Amino acid sequence: MSTYETYSHDVLVIGSGGAGLRAAIEASAAGVSVGMVCRSLLGKAHTVMAEGGVAASLGNVDDRDNWKVHFADTMRGGQYLNNWRMVELFTKEAPDRVRELEAWGAVFDRTADGRILQRNFGGHKYPRLAHVGDRTGLEMIRTLQDHGIHQGIDIYQEYTIVSLLKDGDRIAGAIAYDREKGLFKIFHSKAVIIATGGMGKIYKISSNSWDCTGGGISIAYHAGAELIDMEFVQFHPTGMVWPPSVRGLLITEGVRGEGGVLRNSNGKRFMFDDIPENYKNQTSNNEEEGWRYTQGDKNAKRPPELLTRDHVARCIRREIKEGRGSPHGGVFLDIAWIKEKISNAPEHIKKKLPSMYHQFKELANVDITKESMEVGPTTHYIMGGIRVDADTQMTTVPGLFAAGECAAGLHGANRLGGNSLSDLLVFGKRAGESAAQYAKANQKGKLSEKQIEELSKEALDPFSREANADKENPFQIQSDLQEMMQDLVGIVRTEKELIEALNRLEELKRRAAKVACGGNRGYNPGWHTAIELKHMLTVAEAIAMSALERKESRGGHFRDDFPDKSEELGSVNLSISKGEKMKLQRIPKQKLRDDLQQIVEENK
Ligand code: FUM
Repeated sequence: MSTYETYSHDVLVIGSGGAGLRAAIEASAAGVSVGMVCRSLLGKAHTVMAEGGVAASLGNVDDRDNWKVHFADTMRGGQYLNNWRMVELFTKEAPDRVRELEAWGAVFDRTADGRILQRNFGGHKYPRLAHVGDRTGLEMIRTLQDHGIHQGIDIYQEYTIVSLLKDGDRIAGAIAYDREKGLFKIFHSKAVIIATGGMGKIYKISSNSWDCTGGGISIAYHAGAELIDMEFVQFHPTGMVWPPSVRGLLITEGVRGEGGVLRNSNGKRFMFDDIPENYKNQTSNNEEEGWRYTQGDKNAKRPPELLTRDHVARCIRREIKEGRGSPHGGVFLDIAWIKEKISNAPEHIKKKLPSMYHQFKELANVDITKESMEVGPTTHYIMGGIRVDADTQMTTVPGLFAAGECAAGLHGANRLGGNSLSDLLVFGKRAGESAAQYAKANQKGKLSEKQIEELSKEALDPFSREANADKENPFQIQSDLQEMMQDLVGIVRTEKELIEALNRLEELKRRAAKVACGGNRGYNPGWHTAIELKHMLTVAEAIAMSALERKESRGGHFRDDFPDKSEELGSVNLSISKGEKMKLQRIPKQKLRDDLQQIVEENK
């Protein structure tokens, strides 16, 4: 160990997005020493890309809202595969976490009487998303960061974790390298919290930023933690489709929440024809009524554009596939039409959706106050991830905790928009609290020199292959993986394609074993990608394997060969764990507590 600089903390937080920051703040407030590792610079987290709002039943716009309705909505959105205890804690605690954020300085948009304003989003019965225009995630990160830097947290910027370190069964720390010099660093800690977000970058079209490669999910898996629900990937219905350089970039659901409608190339609002049975009592196919709903009429039903994301994304895909798409392979999203309804429409749009206005003006030369946007589905979120205990957020590895997108359970088969931001506040706080408690009750595990030497050697291997004639290029493998996941493990899946995907993954793994990079270790993106490939391939395999096993369609997972729900599969979650090979198991769903079952029934 003498050759590596070693940092010692009670709690190590990996990831500095919303979940990581909230966890670090809480752990630090509990009086333990906290280190937080950022892959990039503090504040440059993917949370800033969450636009439309944070879901919490404050009831400021519609006082019929409360945690029970939010509970029922979240369970229905997740198609009842959610960990119901997590949903209970989440819906009860989200309003306090939002108010706390406000007390720490977040400047939310206001109602006329000065309370936090809330907007409509898909699958939420009432206007529930507290927001700051369409820059909610940015404001959250700003607030958490401003609050966090006064808490005495040690921050390590531009560090990438290579692997977790263990002492027997329990966690002992992590090994990282710093981007600037490429030197290995050791973190020795009593507890570790993983808060590394999602994996969108294993797909070709994604709303995620470059660092969302599933690294945290994979290091937890390789350290022996169980994963669940990995088949459930969310494809957001509206990403940019043009120009190619920004394909996939998010267009917030807030556009539809503010009255935006979807049309095909014939000018038809195709969502009118596609209202699923279980949403019929809440959804209208009358244009006027849908508009009134988005403007806060409590007696109106929602427009079909605000159905759940999985459903809207599949309808868009169908329009495109059947030849009714837009010139660049999307459909049209129109917010400009509201000029028929309100006199100051252009100013209203710019005020409510400032980022969308700028994004389209700058990147596509489209003025959204006058023209429609071209939009198509984009890989946005993974509902699956590291299995955690609902109350403590501890994984199946003692001393290892997880929070935010990389943790699983809350969202079941599909996440409702805005639930991710409140997820990271509620469970970031809980993870920080529990990890601090764990750190107070336990000594540090022992570090193993042998383990560290093996891991650093493995990480450096790509340099030693540079002269090999059969060497592989890390960027090419990542690109082939993205292409393959997009084509074979996308919005609509079949057995044949999933088997093909698993075969191709074996081939990609063989190629990844020959991956090489040149240059030196400082700021070397080739080396970085070579290290990341292991994680991307691990996560891709877990998704494809679980998707093959779930022979039904539910939430974010749609099987063309099994388009209906299966009662048998609706009673299990799929878990993935490390054996000699990746191991898949069905785990029976826990029966919903009677009082919570009643809430679901009452809100059906
Ligand atoms: O559409 C959006 O603004 C995304 C929000 C979310 O995924 O929660």
